[in-house]
Amino acid sequence: MAKSILSENIISNDDKDELLRPQYLSEYVGQKEIKENIDVFIKACKMRDEVLDHVLLYGPPGLGKTTLAHIIANELGTNIKTASGPSIEKSGDLAAILSTLEPGDVLFIDEIHRMPKYIEEILYPAMEDFELDIIIGNEGSSRSIKIDLPPFTLVGATTKAGDISSPLRDRFGIVCKLEYYKTSELVDIVKRTSRVLSSSINDEAAKIIASRSRRTPRIANRLFKRVRDFALVEGKNVIDENISEQSLKRLKVDDYGLDKNDQDYLLSLINKFNGGPVGVETLASSIGEEVSTLEDVIEPFLLQEGFIKRTQRGRIATDKAYQHFNIEKNV
Ligand SMILES: Nc1ncnc2c1ncn2[C@@H]1O[C@H](COP(=O)(O)OP(=O)(O)OP(=O)(O)O)[C@@H](O)[C@H]1O
Ligand SMILES: [Mg+2]
Repeated sequence: MAKSILSENIISNDDKDELLRPQYLSEYVGQKEIKENIDVFIKACKMRDEVLDHVLLYGPPGLGKTTLAHIIANELGTNIKTASGPSIEKSGDLAAILSTLEPGDVLFIDEIHRMPKYIEEILYPAMEDFELDIIIGNEGSSRSIKIDLPPFTLVGATTKAGDISSPLRDRFGIVCKLEYYKTSELVDIVKRTSRVLSSSINDEAAKIIASRSRRTPRIANRLFKRVRDFALVEGKNVIDENISEQSLKRLKVDDYGLDKNDQDYLLSLINKFNGGPVGVETLASSIGEEVSTLEDVIEPFLLQEGFIKRTQRGRIATDKAYQHFNIEKNV
């Protein structure tokens, strides 16, 4: 049973995606401040012969949290054990994971905001004193046992920092907020991916893909792979600007890099709700999406780019959104 919560299986990634993941800080593109700081903290803990403080990574999906967690373990030269927050249901699940740790290992808990509250409470002493207090047995014959754990580093990742309780948050000595990427950084990522997958791309094409990937490495890689498919079928040896433009059009990614979901969201907000304000639940059902998809995936980018605003009364489309679709605002 313990095996099912122990990672490899939990985070699904095909082998190709694994290939695209940088392994060391020096290959990790962008996030300059985070990289520099983590580099210092890792060096310092090695000099003191201590374990690295616990690290919390947060930010929108696809910006490189999981990748960074693996890099931290690689740079430390330790193993990484992975679990996802919602999969740790019982104290025994957590104990099973913790008992596999060796001194200095990294325990990566993805979606840490979805970890049950009572598990969180068991985790506190584990994080602070490397001790596990668990109650075993049934009611009547239950007893509490204390298990010493090897010192380890917990790396937690979340797309929703706001959902993490403050006692948990306070136990992380290193907190990093991942930012959306610059186009130039995404160009580097696309070029790196083209090298790893051995398919050539010219500079213009790399720039087109980079500038239309919602400032997100995962999307840049995904678009690159699809454009590469079109290029292959059309018999092109080098991915150029023409095939890129053509493919992105067929993928319904617009000039700004907004995809079908973003477009549906904004057009619904503008056309059905006269630009808002409208509640997120209403908006979600109007486009047939989950509220959590809106909040975690679609909205962070639209907010960051100034297409929408979040107000007390609901979501509002900005002038930029109207201009983007060439729609006159009804006043
Ligand atoms: N800084 C980076 N440099 C190069 N490639 C990156 C970088 N960040 C992410 N990537 C690429 O983007 C992909 C997605 O990153 P990753 O899975 O780490 O995102 P995440 O933040 O964990 O997303 P989620 O919140 O959905 O779990 C990776 O497979 C990797 O190839
Ligand atoms: Mg991840």
